[in-house]
Amino acid sequence: MDRIRIRGGRRLSGRIPVSGAKNAVLALMPTALLAEAPLVLSNVPDLVDVQTMSALLRELGMTVEHDRAARRLVIAGPAKAHEAPYDIVRRMRASVLVLGPLLARYGVARVSLPGGCAIGTRPVDLHLKGLEAMGAEIAVEGGYIEARAPRGGLRGARIIFPLVSVGATENLLMAATLAQGETELINAAREPEIEDLALCLMRMGARIEGIGTGRLKVQGVPSLGGAEHPVLPDRIEAGTYACAAAITGGDLLLEGARLDHLGAVARVLREAGVALHEEAGGLRVTRANGLHGVDVITEPFPGFATDMQAQFMALMCVAEGAAMVTETIFENRFMHVPELNRMGARINVHGASAIVRGVPALSGAPVMATDLRASVSLVLAGLVARGETIVNRVYHLDRGYERLEEKLAAVGADIERLR
Ligand code: EPZ
Repeated sequence: MDRIRIRGGRRLSGRIPVSGAKNAVLALMPTALLAEAPLVLSNVPDLVDVQTMSALLRELGMTVEHDRAARRLVIAGPAKAHEAPYDIVRRMRASVLVLGPLLARYGVARVSLPGGCAIGTRPVDLHLKGLEAMGAEIAVEGGYIEARAPRGGLRGARIIFPLVSVGATENLLMAATLAQGETELINAAREPEIEDLALCLMRMGARIEGIGTGRLKVQGVPSLGGAEHPVLPDRIEAGTYACAAAITGGDLLLEGARLDHLGAVARVLREAGVALHEEAGGLRVTRANGLHGVDVITEPFPGFATDMQAQFMALMCVAEGAAMVTETIFENRFMHVPELNRMGARINVHGASAIVRGVPALSGAPVMATDLRASVSLVLAGLVARGETIVNRVYHLDRGYERLEEKLAAVGADIERLR
């Protein structure tokens, strides 16, 4: 079990290349199931989750060529099987994103229920209700979703989401591209990854209006062709390294990062005393003066991203004053709190809110990761803590951060992976 050792106290400065977005590529890869010709993705991040999604697509009979050095993926069909098995789905919930494409193109799908994870129960009821509205017959038996499209294929429908769901929006958007007639997705998620997915589907011949808004209108087409598509830069990775510059009082240029993709995270970081400027080639992040406590509430994009909550909390641990952090998206996303408190932070959780009282300094300690973003918040705390921090269970990190310790060491962090 790999661990990461950090000795805190270094100010970071230099350039960090931002990789392609995990939450974009995991939605883009299943679109290959819809297409009659190969899908070519570039700027593909080298992540464990990409390998897991590749394994799932191969399990479905697709060919997947992954040139990791060239950051290129070529995925070609047709699918020869229509079952996403439990042992893959349980490792990565995004596996459920093959459901919509399989149903739309092949009329049948058997996908293991993803089950919960550390941060919450993670239901998929909105995915299933939307597909049923499009005519699918769906049964849940033995932990599997058994789904069939009607004889003539899925039919367009008007779907109103009772709450914003990234995955349900993605599954139904993909399914709608090959459905008969028009589909409307109302109260759809507006994350940049959804826009990137829609642009890729358009390149394949899909007809989508309202891209970038909460109201998507799709005219079904008989078939989709192949496409070449670059994966957009990872806004959560960029936001994470912005917090690294902020917490160490450093100066980083995040290559490829886009300010507009940070949404409310940019405003909140500025209120906390962090300077963010768009520069040629990326986003410059510096923190010259003190850090101030700022309250945040997580919301769907363009609100403050739930995937940035743990990282921001680490930053608030060493700010002046207090910060109220409220998590509205997931029911159990404060598992980084006890670990941060072991490093000397002063955080109290009351239901969906945590009050963080800034302290003059954190002290290094052996800490344990429980999910991807909780892990990286402990790395951020270790960068500024006095002494040595050992972060255990770093396999969580490898799912969503490419070469994290290399990128941080290259800008001055005293960090290394202990095999
Ligand atoms: C995506 O998960 C991301 N994962 C998550 O990132 C991210 O935190 C989340 O969106 C919110 O932005 C990927 O893109 C692979 P949701 P997803 O459906 O699609 C409830 C990370 O760290 N809900 O938007 O699963 C759900 O329980 C990961 O990179 C239902 O009730 O999130 C949650 O409370 C973590 N029924 C809320 O909606 C459903 O059918 C938002 O979930 C679906 C969701």
